[in-house]
Amino acid sequence: MARNRDFKKNPSTRFKDVDDLGEQEAKDEIEALREGIEFHDHQYYVKNDPVISDSVYDRLFQRLQELEEAFPEYRSENSPTLRVGAAPMDALNRVEHTAPMLSLHAALEREEFDEFHDLVRRHANRDRAGYVLEPKFDGVSVEIIYEQGHFNRGSTRGDGYHGEDISANLRTIGSVPLTLQTPEQCPSFLAVRGEAFLPLEGFQQMNRERIERGDKPYANPRNATGGILRRLESKVVARYPLDVFFYDVLRVEGRDFETHWEELRQLREWGLKVNPHVDRASGKEAVAAYHERLGEKREDLPYEIDGIVIKVDDRALRENLGTRHRSPRWALAWKFPSREEVTTLEEIVVQVGRTGKLTPVALLQPADVGGVTVSRATLHNEGEARRKDVRPGDRVRIARAGDVIPEVVERVPQRGRKRAEAFRMPANCPVCGTAIVREGAYHVCPNGLRCPPQLIGRIFHYGSRSAMDIDGLGEETARDLVEQGLVNDLADLYALSVDDLMQLEGVADKTARNLHEAIHETRKPRLDRFLYALGIRHVGERVATILAQELQSLDRMRRASLEDLRRMPDIGPEIARSVHTFFQEEENVKVLKRMQRRGVDVQDMPAKPKRQPLQGRKFVFTGRLEGYTRSEAEQAVERLGGRATSSVSGETDYVVAGEDPGSKLDDARAEGIEILDEKRFEELLSGS
Ligand code: IVH
Repeated sequence: MARNRDFKKNPSTRFKDVDDLGEQEAKDEIEALREGIEFHDHQYYVKNDPVISDSVYDRLFQRLQELEEAFPEYRSENSPTLRVGAAPMDALNRVEHTAPMLSLHAALEREEFDEFHDLVRRHANRDRAGYVLEPKFDGVSVEIIYEQGHFNRGSTRGDGYHGEDISANLRTIGSVPLTLQTPEQCPSFLAVRGEAFLPLEGFQQMNRERIERGDKPYANPRNATGGILRRLESKVVARYPLDVFFYDVLRVEGRDFETHWEELRQLREWGLKVNPHVDRASGKEAVAAYHERLGEKREDLPYEIDGIVIKVDDRALRENLGTRHRSPRWALAWKFPSREEVTTLEEIVVQVGRTGKLTPVALLQPADVGGVTVSRATLHNEGEARRKDVRPGDRVRIARAGDVIPEVVERVPQRGRKRAEAFRMPANCPVCGTAIVREGAYHVCPNGLRCPPQLIGRIFHYGSRSAMDIDGLGEETARDLVEQGLVNDLADLYALSVDDLMQLEGVADKTARNLHEAIHETRKPRLDRFLYALGIRHVGERVATILAQELQSLDRMRRASLEDLRRMPDIGPEIARSVHTFFQEEENVKVLKRMQRRGVDVQDMPAKPKRQPLQGRKFVFTGRLEGYTRSEAEQAVERLGGRATSSVSGETDYVVAGEDPGSKLDDARAEGIEILDEKRFEELLSGS
């Protein structure tokens, strides 16, 4: 395999049998694979611009794993295969940092920045001081050392002088290069500092899982990141979508930077991820404008930032300004208003969701939390509400992050005040009065669609984008339909006339017509989408797809026994029970029948073959086939896990040539790609 850029952009995945490889050949291939995989990790995790498909990447990765297994003498600590995690450790070792990891002086007010700016200007002997402006990431500060361009060690900040060795955990982070780019110009020694963080989505997902297991959720993404990074088992760490932004060189050998800006550019060139929002400015107003701009952007960023960092760009001027005890005089963190606030909890109400799950919600004295007025915050479930032990009248700390639902973080103790009663889940549904049942960490109203909030939620969910995608059926409309008595179950949606819809508040003729049409356009749903749209507890999109592929028709779905469901891949006992119960319930059976009578015809799914012998293989067709139309041939390939593409490239595995082939056949010959006639193609499909 050639070690050139071509291999990187367009890797061939036809490999020799491992048994046929000589030592040297194996070593060369291992090196080429590592280099190629690192290149693609960089494209994917740092540049956000993958250039090969996941399946080709997976094949390269598997091939490397296979070779490392067959030739253990060429294993390496810096192989990308170790990104999936290494053997667990007994404890983390304490290590000394290359240079002290200082902290930043923090300012909250504009005046404090003005003072900083004046100080800088006095030292600069110039009117305008040049700054580099960066987001202040709310994560965990880490040092990473590269020797001869290879990842050598990574540690937490600790006390600034000593930290803990978390190399194995940092190696699992896709955006951390194991080998620096442009190896020719790599410094012999480089110690960089950056911020490791858990993006908000990963953070929420992690907390959801913790709450479900009855574990204490993390208060914020920073704590979660700290918790993950200090785990002893890197295989577990590899499951979290951690990321890193680099922002400082602690020490480098053989390279001098005049400005910080130049340093950041060089970090990028070495393949280290630098945040895209870094900027340069001189003058007070430009800095203030950046602070404001980023403060607005903060709401939309997929990770937490809590301010901006203003850094003097010129290195000589930095020297001039010097350092205080623990923080440099040449930098300042200008923080944003906190997104945590203390307020009074007025009442705890219990909300019923579309699946019947009961959620305690704290009603709060409205508080401005970083520019947004917050008056409700979730307490998740009874366990959480009790663990936090918050009661009406208590002072509570609330927090929000991005557009995530605000949360009660903790109670702020007050002395000498008589407190209200501790929270308890009601024994009956607060809306319909049905006796509540317990499901794991949650309480559930089992009254299903007879319970109005569940019905409203269910109808809204049915019409949502990833379900039936009914334009115009928002939450308000769903509520109106239920409250006006127009809809009592999903089947009623299909009985609505344009006139019925015009009874809704604010719905004019045209809107009613459009909504009517949008509903009726969903009468031939695909089984997987329909199953998801039904809103069965524990059936998300992924589970719906598995069920649909396994059972293929709504009819078989209805008849599936609990054991049938249990046998399916990735379907646990809880999901199986929930699905089974749903299709047994008389009410649901009736609604499905009525939907059918009103013209809803759920489309069968093609079976997913057990074996996927063509997994990831790419096919190009040229010319006419006797036994298949083009689309039948393509579907046949896809059912076995392969892919049909339109033009021949280095990624193509087979070209299938029928009668009157076109120039693709010549391309295939020129590229040395395997050419199949119809007979060979059929043999391949039938597995011989
Ligand atoms: S520079 C000497 N830049 O904020 C200056 N720090 O105490 C070294 N932080 O512990 C730090 N974003 O973890 C720098 N763009 C950024 C940063 C940043 C976040 C953290 C850093 C530090 C804390 C402030």
